[in-house]
Amino acid sequence: MTEFLLNDETVETGLPAGLTVLDFVRYKRNLKGTKIGCREGDCGACTVLVGEPTADGIRYRSMTSCLMPLANAAGKHIVTVEGINPKNGELTPVQESLVDHGGTQCGFCTVGFVMSLTGFCLDDTEKDQAMSVSAVDGNICRCTGYKSIERAAAEIAKRLSGRDFRKNLESAVKAGVVPKYFNGIESRLREIKPEITDKTTGAVVGGGTDLYVQKPEEMVSEEATHVLYSQQLRGIEEIGGRVEIGASATVTDLLESQLMKDVFPDLFFHLKLVSSTPIRNMATLAGNFVNASPIGDMTVWFLALDAKVVFDSGRSLPLRKFYRGYKELEKDALESITRISFVKPGKGFRFNFEKVCKRQYLDIATVNTAISFEEQDGALSKVHVSAGGVAPIPLYLSKTSEYLDGKTISAATIRASAEVIDSEISPISDVRGSADYKRLLLRQLFKAHFIEVI
Ligand SMILES: Cc1cc2nc3c(=O)[nH]c(=O)nc-3n(C[C@H](O)[C@H](O)[C@H](O)COP(=O)(O)OP(=O)(O)OC[C@H]3O[C@@H](n4cnc5c(N)ncnc54)[C@H](O)[C@@H]3O)c2cc1C
Ligand code: FES
Ligand code: FES
Repeated sequence: MTEFLLNDETVETGLPAGLTVLDFVRYKRNLKGTKIGCREGDCGACTVLVGEPTADGIRYRSMTSCLMPLANAAGKHIVTVEGINPKNGELTPVQESLVDHGGTQCGFCTVGFVMSLTGFCLDDTEKDQAMSVSAVDGNICRCTGYKSIERAAAEIAKRLSGRDFRKNLESAVKAGVVPKYFNGIESRLREIKPEITDKTTGAVVGGGTDLYVQKPEEMVSEEATHVLYSQQLRGIEEIGGRVEIGASATVTDLLESQLMKDVFPDLFFHLKLVSSTPIRNMATLAGNFVNASPIGDMTVWFLALDAKVVFDSGRSLPLRKFYRGYKELEKDALESITRISFVKPGKGFRFNFEKVCKRQYLDIATVNTAISFEEQDGALSKVHVSAGGVAPIPLYLSKTSEYLDGKTISAATIRASAEVIDSEISPISDVRGSADYKRLLLRQLFKAHFIEVI
């Protein structure tokens, strides 16, 4: 049985835990406000809000319901547009702004925008224009044009300035952002005890953002262990000089972690290049590593931190030894990742991440690369360089890292290390670009690292 709140209703269902929330709300509850566009997480038409009880209230995050299994709804508050519409036919401030600024034409995408912007009203982000526009980075509109939607988003941010609904849901109710029944949601959610599975059976599913794109039909009935909300697999903390991260930490968890912000001053700027807000809200680190895409952004990021992965079997492994060949892993089929860790950097730490795609946001990389090192008076130590899109696996550039270690930064050193990089990679020509183009791109991005950090 899966138990959760769907808008104002308590749901207990014996339907397969792998059924998507999208199909459940549309076809089992007849809530047709949530639209189907791509079913691949790309268009945002199916966006819903997912409320999770935390130590300080409920945290709502936008997610694409087409990639979300019912299992991940257990113990949560799932909010569709029907769950925020005021009863008397009036509009919420978000809906009003979209109408006032001409932010809707055919209306097919509008529900997705409304849910993303309502999520923005309730989340922890800064309430400014840039962040309001950023909140709809996973929503596509084919007919209105984005300027009017951006103006509506900016007005919402202006209206919210100085207000914090995240920790005070009652004030969101008073402002009409969400209906009155939201006041009782926290106590209702705390009464639900989601079923806990402590035994791994079948495939491990995190956010589902890879699995539900790769094999959506099979996932509905496949036996699986759902780990996105497993308490043992979450959390980001410093233990014994290492940053320890639960395997199910999402990209958004990283973005919101004070520890990560302290270590990586450009965290937001870099992680903004990874997918979109709703996908970052679901995409786990372990999912990114195990998917083993040669261009996995988080994999390339953590390779450059020389991170370590820990398995439920108790063994651990440097991430750079995790990839044996294309989609071939140094892991037993039933082994799952529990933690990821890296040494908390010391003084003079520098980190940079670069990614080039066919379009700037919500696209996978053609080539991506990251670097970390410590620098004192121009001298480099503890250098780790990684790159994606230039080999069958995400690459730790061991020769380049070794070459740079102990060197002093200069144009000559950078030029010479670019030669070493060339000897370590084996890009192929494909739809994302020719092998020569990818070689050139990596050289340029490698130079960009030094322009950015020095
Ligand atoms: C629209 C869209 C945009 C995207 N953009 C990007 C992007 O810009 N950059 C990028 O890198 N990726 C991107 N992705 C891919 C995807 O979001 C990431 O790879 C994500 O991190 C996968 O995590 P998940 O938890 O959703 O994985 P899932 O789909 O749940 O799982 C993926 C694999 O990992 C395994 N797995 C999950 N958790 C564990 C565990 N604890 N132990 C062992 N195995 C485990 C699963 O069994 C499965 O094999 C995008 C995906 C979509 C749909
Ligand atoms: S239907 Fe397009 S993101 Fe879900
Ligand atoms: S209003 Fe028609 S697709 Fe956005």
